[in-house]
Amino acid sequence: MGKKTYKENRFIIVSEIENPGGLKVGLIQLNRPDALNALNIPLLYEVMYAYEAFDEDNDIGCIVITGSQKAFAAGADIKEMAEISTVEMYFRDKFAVWDRIRRIKKPIIAAVSGYALGGGNELVMNCDMIVAAENSKFGQPEINLGIIPGAGGTQRLTRAIGKAKSMEAILTGKIYTAKEMYELGLITKVVSNDTYLDDAVALAKEVANKPAVAVRLAKECILKSFDTTIEGGIEFERKNFYLLFASEDKVEGMNAFIEKRKPVWKHK
Ligand code: CAA
Repeated sequence: MGKKTYKENRFIIVSEIENPGGLKVGLIQLNRPDALNALNIPLLYEVMYAYEAFDEDNDIGCIVITGSQKAFAAGADIKEMAEISTVEMYFRDKFAVWDRIRRIKKPIIAAVSGYALGGGNELVMNCDMIVAAENSKFGQPEINLGIIPGAGGTQRLTRAIGKAKSMEAILTGKIYTAKEMYELGLITKVVSNDTYLDDAVALAKEVANKPAVAVRLAKECILKSFDTTIEGGIEFERKNFYLLFASEDKVEGMNAFIEKRKPVWKHK
């Protein structure tokens, strides 16, 4: 895959994947095998800092986040949460880290294999596209612990699969196969257990080969549709469309079409 190690962390492995002719792909691999990549707070901070570093790096065009074959992530760390009081959760705003994870501007692709449960599924749903191995299992089983999803699950799952199915998932804690979640519309594609990471990276390279300013504004517009009216969203889209007429890549893209040649993107 042409990876190079980027930075050492305790619970994640961060690397960059070369992509000749386009921008690079940033890869984050959750690496807490003894706990099925359960998301303790330090791990979430590592993910957040890695996301932010890639977001600020002009050489990176797209980010992929993955776990292991057995588990993308089996949820928030139950052992850590068992020790925390309401006062500590609330006054230290323990889940504020999720707000920064939510604000990443570059596209993020989840490469999922095995369990994506609770906070694991919420980390997946924070991504812009989801490539899932056939063996993946998705769910929000928090109800079985006497709690509810706490990192956006009630909102994101409902927007993705609708009220009726989201109610079933969250009120019963049902675990879904990749095929079921694909049919419900949560997932971009279901692929083989052997190639899921390569497939996600290939998709990321395809995005990283596109002009970065347009990619970023397209992501912003699509996300806007989740929290605005159709009127407001169309206005937001149009302003961003006009904005792109100031980019060098708009000139290059249109000239290349007219001159019948491949565009050479400057990502400016
Ligand atoms: N937190 C902490 N540790 C976890 C964990 C979690 N979410 N999930 C698994 N582990 C640990 C287990 O405790 C076990 O550790 P030990 O070997 O020290 O006992 C190790 O990972 C391996 O797990 P299992 O032995 O349970 O593996 P399994 O293959 O038998 O079962 C599983 C896999 C079905 C995913 C099971 O581990 C499981 O049900 N995990 C919890 C899933 C869950 O409830 N997630 C939601 C968490 S709450 C949440 O996420 C809130 C939120 O919205 C943010």
